[in-house]
Amino acid sequence: MQLTIFESKEELALNFARHFIQIIADNNELHVALSGGSTPGIVFQALAERYASGVDWSKVHIYWGDERAVPPTDVESNYKMAFETLLGRVLVPEQQIHRIRGEEPPEEEAMRYSRVLRENLPLTHGIPQFDLVLLGMGDDGHTASIFPDKIKLWYATENCVVARHPESGQERVSITGKLINNAREVAFLVTGSNKAQKVREVIRKEEGYDRYPASLVAPHTGALRWYLDWEAASGLISA
Ligand code: 6PG
Repeated sequence: MQLTIFESKEELALNFARHFIQIIADNNELHVALSGGSTPGIVFQALAERYASGVDWSKVHIYWGDERAVPPTDVESNYKMAFETLLGRVLVPEQQIHRIRGEEPPEEEAMRYSRVLRENLPLTHGIPQFDLVLLGMGDDGHTASIFPDKIKLWYATENCVVARHPESGQERVSITGKLINNAREVAFLVTGSNKAQKVREVIRKEEGYDRYPASLVAPHTGALRWYLDWEAASGLISA
């Protein structure tokens, strides 16, 4: 595991954007799963502002780690956020953008998207393999849309499952731990003081840490990189 702490969200975003562009340069094609959330959103902005040109975006195949059960025009849609901050501003070929269809019945879409992943991603040990998975972490320790109250979904045998936000009840489609831990690289993008306690518990594996889905992210052979700002890392500094 590699952990890097940045002065600000903006510095984190610029550094991760640079890393992302290097991965594109180093690969003939890149299969990446995007995340929802405010920190990923800042990263997408930085990518579009700095790297819309001069990068071969035709190498990139875009997927999502999770999506809310809403239409792509809904303010809650992870696709809408990614399109407005990044995908509407860079030249990723449309047929390489594999949206989770939040407007479809979630159970049907989870099955359809499981097939999309199986048919479009390279397989290792029969499991679809992303080159890169971006993750955020909720202040409850959830990641993608696997929440602590239904942590067993992490261990599902399917590629995708239907999850439900524990407070709002909003349904989601989410990839499972099987895919996340099969990735060549996983990047946690976490900022804000409200995450500090969970970051500390998860990174330091403190008592009870394994009840948080974020603590289960441990790529079998791939790299795990935490990108934190000082606020989110503040719990790691104190004794
Ligand atoms: C989602 C995201 C989710 C998000 C975390 C962190 O669809 O909500 O995939 O896992 O990354 O909730 O979100 P923030 O970075 O906004 O705190």
